[in-house]
Amino acid sequence: MGMEKTQEVIDLLQQYKQEHIINYMQTLNEQEKEALENQILTIDFHQLAELYDNTKKAVQIKENKIEEIQYFDKAKISSSKKSQLDNLGEKVISSGKYAVVTMAGGQGTRLEHTGPKGTFKLDVYGKGKYLFEILIDNLKEANKKYGVTIPWYIMTSKENHNETKSFLEEHSFFGYDKNNVILFQQGELPLIDTKGKLLIGKNKLIKLASDGNGGTFTSLRTSGALADMKERGIEWVFIGGVDNVLLKMADTTLLGLAIEQNVQIASKSIVKANPQERVGVFCKMNGHPKVIEYTELPEKMAEEVNLDGELKYGESHIMCNLFTIDAVEKISKEPLMYHWALKKNTYIDSTGKEIIPEKENTFKFEAFIFDAFTFFDDIAILRGKREEDFAPVKNKEGVDSPKTAKELYEKFWN
Ligand code: UTP
Repeated sequence: MGMEKTQEVIDLLQQYKQEHIINYMQTLNEQEKEALENQILTIDFHQLAELYDNTKKAVQIKENKIEEIQYFDKAKISSSKKSQLDNLGEKVISSGKYAVVTMAGGQGTRLEHTGPKGTFKLDVYGKGKYLFEILIDNLKEANKKYGVTIPWYIMTSKENHNETKSFLEEHSFFGYDKNNVILFQQGELPLIDTKGKLLIGKNKLIKLASDGNGGTFTSLRTSGALADMKERGIEWVFIGGVDNVLLKMADTTLLGLAIEQNVQIASKSIVKANPQERVGVFCKMNGHPKVIEYTELPEKMAEEVNLDGELKYGESHIMCNLFTIDAVEKISKEPLMYHWALKKNTYIDSTGKEIIPEKENTFKFEAFIFDAFTFFDDIAILRGKREEDFAPVKNKEGVDSPKTAKELYEKFWN
């Protein structure tokens, strides 16, 4: 039995040109070898080979029909209209039909913080605040205002789940009712190096990483979190990132707009700082809402302006999205495409030594949350303001770093 399995694994590794793993297996004891073999048999090598091939192809957007998308500018909505929208939103939240999901399964490689990103402490007001704490403060404020406790679902990765859980427990959920904090885990895909080879991790297994924030929908369903939402009577689900310290997790104007526009999905945007800013922008592609990543937007289009003198493709996606529960369910059953990103990842070489790369060395495959927009005819986009809505902690230094986030956070809350 054992030998048959070993042979099957060897055949598979040879077929997909992963012979270095066969060599590595020689260095393992029986137990370790068995664990690695079992893991290898769960990997979809055909899919992986296809994903690797895709890294060599340029993304073609030319044959698609791309148009500007309509949006509502929060700053330009009249105050009577705004209160009408807020009332619509408030009703949903105060009747307990609103839930929030935080996507916290990312690796945070650019920030270089060891541990889940939510456990990063931002140096604000001397004492500092953890990113999770900042999000909780925001939820608590909404709870107080609307007289409810919003159920909060946190998506972790297999890699950071236990650490996230113990961190929140150690801090007593920063005062949040723990019955309303639900952790669920996202799926994973193998990482490969730039030659398409699998990597070995410290645990002597193939190195895997979470499959992108687009994995949220499927994971919500398969983990049972979606069923839990339904049981609680949730009708609207807000899904946001873990690292924007100005994120508004219960924006009644956004929710009201979605209801008034009778759409299943809505998103907050901010206008691009300049045509070259490295953010994804909204458009309509072949009649459906879409976000084009900055890496995929041709330079000419990035600079195009409309008759009002505004960038045609200037509404940036800031991971601030709202879905009806039916929309979440629908998306959870549709496959999303995988994009690739070059990231820095440590690994174990054939001699068992840990290699810490100096530059990006691995392809990570990720589904993006915004690819789900394409399944719908319409989206309600609310343009917010950078100084009120967007202060991400992405890079260790420079733009979108702890330094810029601290400044924006303290300015907003002073
Ligand atoms: P990013 O794509 O910016 O990734 O995530 P990141 O992990 O924060 O940072 P880098 O690129 O490795 O430096 C945007 C949001 O999506 C979540 C992140 O936690 C963040 O809130 N995310 C990303 C997941 O939940 N799962 C993933 O697989 C990827």
